[in-house]
Amino acid sequence: MRLTIDDVRSRFIKHFDGTTGSVYASPGRINLIGEHTDYNNGFVFPGAVQQGMIAEIKPNGTRNVNAYSIDLKDKVTFSLDDPKGPSASWARYIFGVCREMMELGIPVEGFNTAFAGDVPLGAGMSSSAALESCFAFAINDLWGDNKIEKMELARVGQRTEHKYIGCNCGIMDQFASVHGKAGSLMRLDCRSGEFAYFPWEPKGYKLVLVNSQVKHTLAGSPYNDRRLSCERVAAVIGKHHAEVETLRDANYDMLEEVKAEVSDEDYKRAKYVIGEVDRVLKVCDALEAGDYETVGQMMYATHYGLSKEYEVSCEELDFLNDVAKEEGVTGSRIMGGGFGGCTINLVADELYDNFVKVVKEKFAAKYGKDPIIIDVVIGDGSRKLC
Ligand code: GLA
Repeated sequence: MRLTIDDVRSRFIKHFDGTTGSVYASPGRINLIGEHTDYNNGFVFPGAVQQGMIAEIKPNGTRNVNAYSIDLKDKVTFSLDDPKGPSASWARYIFGVCREMMELGIPVEGFNTAFAGDVPLGAGMSSSAALESCFAFAINDLWGDNKIEKMELARVGQRTEHKYIGCNCGIMDQFASVHGKAGSLMRLDCRSGEFAYFPWEPKGYKLVLVNSQVKHTLAGSPYNDRRLSCERVAAVIGKHHAEVETLRDANYDMLEEVKAEVSDEDYKRAKYVIGEVDRVLKVCDALEAGDYETVGQMMYATHYGLSKEYEVSCEELDFLNDVAKEEGVTGSRIMGGGFGGCTINLVADELYDNFVKVVKEKFAAKYGKDPIIIDVVIGDGSRKLC
């Protein structure tokens, strides 16, 4: 069941003073290809989904934020002026966004809020970016005259992750949540910030997510270690090639040159990233030519790299990828940061019903639980609902 405004409004009325406020929404995202490339200044190719966060917000005339998480049935109050912030991690996302908007000079005031989401948590669909983007967008509207640019709103969410949560993420998730457009994927150059909308109208194919329900959390996870590996290798290559600042600027020859100067592990991580930056561009070309077979092959190559070189997969995700291959699915791979979550699958229409049936049966037989199937519909980015 999709979340509606009324689900949020009824709780807002119940938990506060009976009046209503303004309602905002911001989505989660999928990513067709380009994983762990954003913090290497490479390309990504995400799109917003219809699932997301909805928040009702009303200024309360104080310096306090009273926030109610409908999903967790938890209420937290924090002061905008206390730099320590709340301890509940869900409330820290909201606090971080408020503080970062204040840093940008927005005169944020205290407010009451109730919010809920229908992005599955820990699925690799960026529920946290949806939350950050929802509040960044709302604060910009309520107190900022909408003068902060969308890309800066995305950066507010990213800085919140870095400074208040401890995840040194790239910009992809917040970018996608803020900029999403129904029916279009977006190719973003994470170095220049330039992006282009690509209409996503695959003739004869569907995108479907298979959620392993293995929960991941990126904060304090090996995610930050992966980023450090990339930075170490880029620095070593940079000593030989001054033009290389990040792995986006490097190629396989350069990596081979420094093989003896980096650890085997860092070498593997960098090899994956260099290949992945290139694959995003190949997928864009293939899409323009209507060549879905190539798109699918690139997705399998990404899965291999994420599993064997970048090592962010897990047994369940590798299993889902194997089943997709056995069933003749055109493309399949881990989506998002990894360490759990879901696979994204490009499936020919005529194979769709059978694939969904078989993947459920096989996964349940092996792991004792059904994977969750999510049909992808590309939706809009952050917006005011009423
Ligand atoms: C997480 C991060 C993103 C990106 C992906 C991997 O979703 O938040 O910035 O690095 O992992 O592509």
